[in-house]
Amino acid sequence: MSAVPTVSRLSREDIERRVNELGEWFQNMDLHGVSTAPFHFLGDYPAVKFRNFAHAIPEDLTGQSVLDIGCNAGFYSIEMKRRGAERVLGIDFDIRYLDQARFAAEVTGQHIEFRQMSVYDVAHLGERFDLVIFMGVLYHLRHPLLALDLIHEHVAKDLMLFQSMQRGRPSIPRLKRDYPFGETAVFGEPDYPVMHFIEHRYAHDPTNWWIPNRACVEAMLRSSGFRIVDHPEEEVYLCRRKPRG
Ligand SMILES: C[S@@+](CC[C@H](N)C(=O)[O-])C[C@H]1O[C@@H](n2cnc3c(N)ncnc32)[C@H](O)[C@@H]1O
Repeated sequence: MSAVPTVSRLSREDIERRVNELGEWFQNMDLHGVSTAPFHFLGDYPAVKFRNFAHAIPEDLTGQSVLDIGCNAGFYSIEMKRRGAERVLGIDFDIRYLDQARFAAEVTGQHIEFRQMSVYDVAHLGERFDLVIFMGVLYHLRHPLLALDLIHEHVAKDLMLFQSMQRGRPSIPRLKRDYPFGETAVFGEPDYPVMHFIEHRYAHDPTNWWIPNRACVEAMLRSSGFRIVDHPEEEVYLCRRKPRG
């Protein structure tokens, strides 16, 4: 029986051809010298972003399990596997991205499971993960708070790495825990927690639905049962799951 060549033995030309066949990449990765999205509008993304908060995640994930929700082409899944995570599962509802992720994992020699699944279906996983990554997905959802509630309820065990695009004032208002019905002025405060609803498109992207301001992001995380333990970058939070009161 002839040996099947491993992907890592693919030539640069083979990798280049496969990268092109796999369609348009959102995540730029270096696959043995081949860039998957060299002209990304945010530059070498997500590597340039990751540099700003890589230190906030445990360097050694030996023995840990990781769930990467909205994993796209697997950039964060691969990085967590490189940190020694025992089990990494990446889920995304877009099969094209999962095909890219499987190829990137093979080329980089990482054993990672990728599954087509929506964040709304995480209850079906039937297991909790030491680290949940929920980066860049919230604002693509029509039901963002539901997604956070489901993550808390079904899959988060301890840490959650979270990121959302934010628009509006980045300041945090001093709010009371309650207001009388007649109070209306507070809703006009420029940093009151708000989500901007996008009926049509933002940045030409019809999948942008809700864009929160900073106060709203932080309030939603707390409200769904997460304690913010670090805020290493403007849009990024490291949270710990706590029992909901
Ligand atoms: C902006 S990309 C972020 C990718 C990656 N997490 C990152 O931070 O670079 C959003 C990803 O979320 C995925 N996605 C959107 N809605 C989803 C859903 N309901 N369930 C799972 N994945 C979803 C998209 O297919 C896409 O891969």
